[in-house]
Amino acid sequence: MRDSNAQLPQGKGYYCVPPNTVLAPPPPGSTIDNMATATENRLAELKLRMATREAHIGIIGMGYVGLPLALLFSGERFHVTGFDIARDKVSKLNAGGSYIVRILPSAIQQAQQTGFRATSDYSQIAKMDAVIICVPTPLNEHHEPDLSYVTGTVESIAPHIHSGQLIVLESTTYPGTTEEIVVPLLEAGNLQALKVTRNADQPGVYVAFSPEREDPGNDTVARHDIPKVVGGCSPQATELASALYGAIFRRVVPVSSPSVAEMTKLLENIYRCVNIALVNELKQLCMRMGIDIHEVIDAAKTKPFGFQAFYPGPGLGGHCIPIDPFYLSWKARGFDFRTRFIELAGAVNRDMPYFVLDQIAAGLNEHSKALKGSKMLVLGVAYKRDIDDLRESPSLTIIELLRDKGAIVAYNDPYFPSVGHGRHYDLNMINTPLDNLGQYDAVVIVTDHTTYDYRAIVEQSQLVVDTRNATKGIDSPNILRC
Ligand SMILES: NC(=O)c1ccc[n+]([C@@H]2O[C@H](COP(=O)([O-])OP(=O)(O)OC[C@H]3O[C@@H](n4cnc5c(N)ncnc54)[C@H](O)[C@@H]3O)[C@@H](O)[C@H]2O)c1
Repeated sequence: MRDSNAQLPQGKGYYCVPPNTVLAPPPPGSTIDNMATATENRLAELKLRMATREAHIGIIGMGYVGLPLALLFSGERFHVTGFDIARDKVSKLNAGGSYIVRILPSAIQQAQQTGFRATSDYSQIAKMDAVIICVPTPLNEHHEPDLSYVTGTVESIAPHIHSGQLIVLESTTYPGTTEEIVVPLLEAGNLQALKVTRNADQPGVYVAFSPEREDPGNDTVARHDIPKVVGGCSPQATELASALYGAIFRRVVPVSSPSVAEMTKLLENIYRCVNIALVNELKQLCMRMGIDIHEVIDAAKTKPFGFQAFYPGPGLGGHCIPIDPFYLSWKARGFDFRTRFIELAGAVNRDMPYFVLDQIAAGLNEHSKALKGSKMLVLGVAYKRDIDDLRESPSLTIIELLRDKGAIVAYNDPYFPSVGHGRHYDLNMINTPLDNLGQYDAVVIVTDHTTYDYRAIVEQSQLVVDTRNATKGIDSPNILRC
């Protein structure tokens, strides 16, 4: 068995001391003693600035994660600067606008009253007490981690950082990224040859990892009630990051290293990915057996312990669950280890849009029709209900598969007036109004937005293919649930 530090570069001092480690005191009157005192003073001052909300917080990446986080800090009266390379986002924010549906312009304007500003100017990093990095971590075309956004960001900020600042990476990534990628890049790019603090005596910049745990569209838990895991490159970095997040989150969970914090996030998302794959597979078996998987799950979840409900669907979507597990698979290969659960779950989940396509064909067959030339309306392109995010959405794959088979496809989604092209799709479609449903050979529910009137949709359609159990309780021979 490998110990937790075996993967770290040896002999470079990247070892992270567990938070409770008691460090031997330096001899009284020594230079080290003076340095340690100065470092302690700087740490205490920074913690005080955080406690009194005087600390200036920089958040890099004004997306689905970074912008809400900026608003959370602003709500606690911190002075926040949002950094983004997308100039249109910067302009919109500075004009008091928003580009994320669930964030109202009024929330941006309120944050502006406590000093919130957006910028693309990295020289502003020098004015920050803490810098939090929330940039994308996608997969490349070979299904491998694409850390270019993280490395690009770190290289851009490195010349501007100074001693005593706290830098936190929040982007989801494989264990080792903070210590093996972020720390060396920060040190190499700093003009004053600044070092990352790794022990109590050493002045420098503090670095930590703290995973984002947001679940967009889930309003059952307030953001500040989601415990925040933090792991620093030194006990001091963990302490400082805990003080920072302790100002806005009710509970902070310090762990012994950035790698533990990185792995924690991956465990959470792999757990979901694997369990969703399990119910997706069982759904297909239940259909053959004439059993309603949703009725089974509803019954199973009455068990008060040992079971958590996951639901089948048309495939995985979003920037997390379809992607993050493969960061670990990639890293595991370097340790001559195969992550079989992740690969199997990935294969089952990736096949789901093809399963939906087969079900649509079967439904049309019952009406003596073929996919080729049939008119289809896909309901929902967002990857899940009631959000304006279509990254990795199974709808996009299903639309492409239908088109490949010669179907004439339209879509409706209240959150997307149009769908152009992205990393993995090129659709160039505009939203179709939800009327005259009888003209379609099939209406396919891929995203179960709550604004849809499913009873009316079933009544007006020739055939409804329901991949989300959105028509639960509606009795009609026109519904094909899959
Ligand atoms: N979206 C979620 O629900 C969610 C949840 C948990 C964790 N995460 C993780 O958080 C991270 C960010 O995800 P997101 O959904 O906010 O992504 P996003 O694409 O919505 O936002 C990222 C932002 O970073 C900006 N950006 C890219 N490179 C930059 C650079 N060099 N400098 C400044 N800005 C830059 C982009 O313009 C964009 O505005 C990812 O690692 C993701 O896996 C996301």
